[in-house]
Amino acid sequence: MYTIRPLVGVKKAIVVPADKSISHRAVMLASLAKGMTRIEPILLGDDIMATIDCMKRLGVSVSFDGASVSVAGSGLFFPKTEKITLYAHESGTTMRILSGILCGQKFPVSFDAAIALRKRPMSRVTVPLRAMAADITGHPQGNEEYPPLSVRPVKKMKGITYALPVASAQVKSAILCASLYAKGTTVVRESIVSRDHTERMLKFFGARIRRQGRTVFCQPSALRPPQEPLFIPSDFSSAAFFIVLGAITKKSEITMRMVNTNPTRCGLLKVLRRMGAHITLRNRKEYFEPYADIISKSSALSGVEVNEKEIPLLVDDIPVLCVAASFAKGKTVIRGVKELKVKETDRIHSMVYNLRQAGVDIKTASYIKDGQSDWLIEINGTGNFRGSDFKSFSDHRTAMSSVILGLASGGVSTLDDIHCINKSFPQFISLVESLY
Ligand code: S3P
Repeated sequence: MYTIRPLVGVKKAIVVPADKSISHRAVMLASLAKGMTRIEPILLGDDIMATIDCMKRLGVSVSFDGASVSVAGSGLFFPKTEKITLYAHESGTTMRILSGILCGQKFPVSFDAAIALRKRPMSRVTVPLRAMAADITGHPQGNEEYPPLSVRPVKKMKGITYALPVASAQVKSAILCASLYAKGTTVVRESIVSRDHTERMLKFFGARIRRQGRTVFCQPSALRPPQEPLFIPSDFSSAAFFIVLGAITKKSEITMRMVNTNPTRCGLLKVLRRMGAHITLRNRKEYFEPYADIISKSSALSGVEVNEKEIPLLVDDIPVLCVAASFAKGKTVIRGVKELKVKETDRIHSMVYNLRQAGVDIKTASYIKDGQSDWLIEINGTGNFRGSDFKSFSDHRTAMSSVILGLASGGVSTLDDIHCINKSFPQFISLVESLY
């Protein structure tokens, strides 16, 4: 159990760890590029270790040096001939994106996961991959497929034109990775643009890929390692906890250095600014991903409406947005949150539980839009909360959001488990402790 003591007057500059989504992609694409790629820094959280573990089992050499890794890529085809078993642990990103790469290989794979990930839907990747003539199946249950996945080699995959039915960067990435092995051009259309780290990273590694509006075109390509070490900026979704903390605690100013400011990730910035938050960006840099220092100051927040189109741009930051909304004057409504139900836990349920523990007025409702059912969250903020007993539900983002709520509340709080935080942000607790 972790004890959270209230905090005011935070004046600090911090560095949060490297981006999780970019770290996964860097390890995977470096493994497919013939030659050595040095990645510095990289996030060494549990999920990236799952990706590295898979790459090692696939015969790729990965060596560690502090917060950096060197990956000796073998080209698009891994040096294996016999059937192998891979394990994605609890990392959905590992399982979904890597599936696209495994479909192009010349050996069969059994791809399993830990219990929590075995409950997460996989037909969103198996369906389009099968349309590309891949031989991939999940464990069927009702209309859905779940891990373990079974992948068998095929003679040749083919490019497809695919309209994504869910706004999911993981699904888009699986298809784009599979397209490296397919005959012809693959075209992926998004109705709402999701994070574009894979497109940027594929281009950086020399793939023939381009975007036109909401459509991405990718052709079969060999990848080449970059000449320079690959720099990964800090994770916006990890910075998000401290951006919100800076805004909701009195007399505070928190600076987060070199944070990824990819517009497909920073939807939270726009929403918080609409709420009245004083957030500024300094030292903006352009690399294959943009980054900047983010400064967040104590602010008087007001409730806002967040619509369905904004969700993919802040999907991982909704738990901490709920915390910000609890401290905002008036009503905040966040629409289009159904994907939260299939994250590491049902994050609608976990956040309702924790916010109600603190005395926040929060409601949820289902509704139908364009013939599809979805969910909304409504919070009536007051900003005056008691210390409470929070539960992580084994979900890193629920756990960290609850810590932020506890830090900004009026009394001592507790959190039942902090182990799950290692998934994306192993330094989180020590960074929090450094703020007192
Ligand atoms: C991720 C995409 C998002 C996000 C997840 C990481 C990625 O999932 O929630 O934490 O790295 O592509 P979806 O693409 O399924 O929305």
